[in-house]
Amino acid sequence: MADGKERTALATGATDGVGRVVARELAKQGWRVLVHGRDRPRGEALVHEIERAGGSATFLAADLGSLAEVRHLADEVRKSTDRLDLLINNAGIGTAGSGRQTSTDGHELRFAVNYLSGFLLTYLLLPLLKAAAPARIVNVASAGQQAIDFSDVMLTRNYSGVAAYCQSKLAQIMFTVDLADELKGSGVIANALHPSTYMNTTMVRRAGVSPMSKVEDGAEAILQLAVSPKLEGRSGLYFNVLNEARANAQAYDAEARRRLRALSLELSGLKGQAPS
Ligand SMILES: NC(=O)c1ccc[n+]([C@@H]2O[C@H](COP(=O)([O-])OP(=O)(O)OC[C@H]3O[C@@H](n4cnc5c(N)ncnc54)[C@H](OP(=O)(O)O)[C@@H]3O)[C@@H](O)[C@H]2O)c1
Repeated sequence: MADGKERTALATGATDGVGRVVARELAKQGWRVLVHGRDRPRGEALVHEIERAGGSATFLAADLGSLAEVRHLADEVRKSTDRLDLLINNAGIGTAGSGRQTSTDGHELRFAVNYLSGFLLTYLLLPLLKAAAPARIVNVASAGQQAIDFSDVMLTRNYSGVAAYCQSKLAQIMFTVDLADELKGSGVIANALHPSTYMNTTMVRRAGVSPMSKVEDGAEAILQLAVSPKLEGRSGLYFNVLNEARANAQAYDAEARRRLRALSLELSGLKGQAPS
């Protein structure tokens, strides 16, 4: 409580996996946690658990496969707080499945849920983050990254769940680099990370992969970017678990980032509202 006010965090995808562990830990550290998910019983169970332990939390439901629901989520956040000290874009769908799926808006589903929803949510919540500065944005990406083919971003040719997942995760990192630049001097920092390799979570089990690490490992890495004083004033970085690392080369390609940004502004309906 730097200025004597309660600190508020929004963690997306906090009804399962590493997001749930991060939400619990933030609450233990005295944060008020806005627990996002799409499953109300699991979201409310986590809120009750946090409250029973003496913490403060509120559940906010939204399917991030719908841009209208992302906008509604931002409205609900605005109704419940006038400042947001921390936004963790964590919700995601893994690599499982060989059939191409689309979001409510007709976009390739992993691009939509893992990346585009966080892009839109972040812009809608920037005023609240700036009001709380110093504030932080953490984009939970992955070491699984694949360069975006701008001739087929929606993967209508040669679809695979792995390709869809990996391009969405690189898109999050490209967004982080741009965001950091745009937020220079605002007191809001933005960083991305690979939380841990094959944690024992639903997405990993669904992919048929044997887990290699614990959710607590990933939670520690996310919390480092979220709260560690070591990150003060440091922005636009990519971390491999606890260490700063290089992402796929496309993350550092300004022209590729410009193209992704232009497309994202168009698809999210933010064109003309967010800086282009
Ligand atoms: N597990 C790993 O080893 C690993 C490695 C690298 C990166 N990551 C990243 O870490 C983050 C968390 O992954 P996890 O392993 O903890 O996965 P998880 O256990 O499968 O949890 C994913 C969370 O995202 C939510 N979610 C999925 N689709 C959604 C949608 N359309 N709308 C709203 N919420 C949605 C899920 O809600 P439901 O419960 O309702 O589905 C759940 O709360 C992801 O971004 C993932 O890419 C994980």
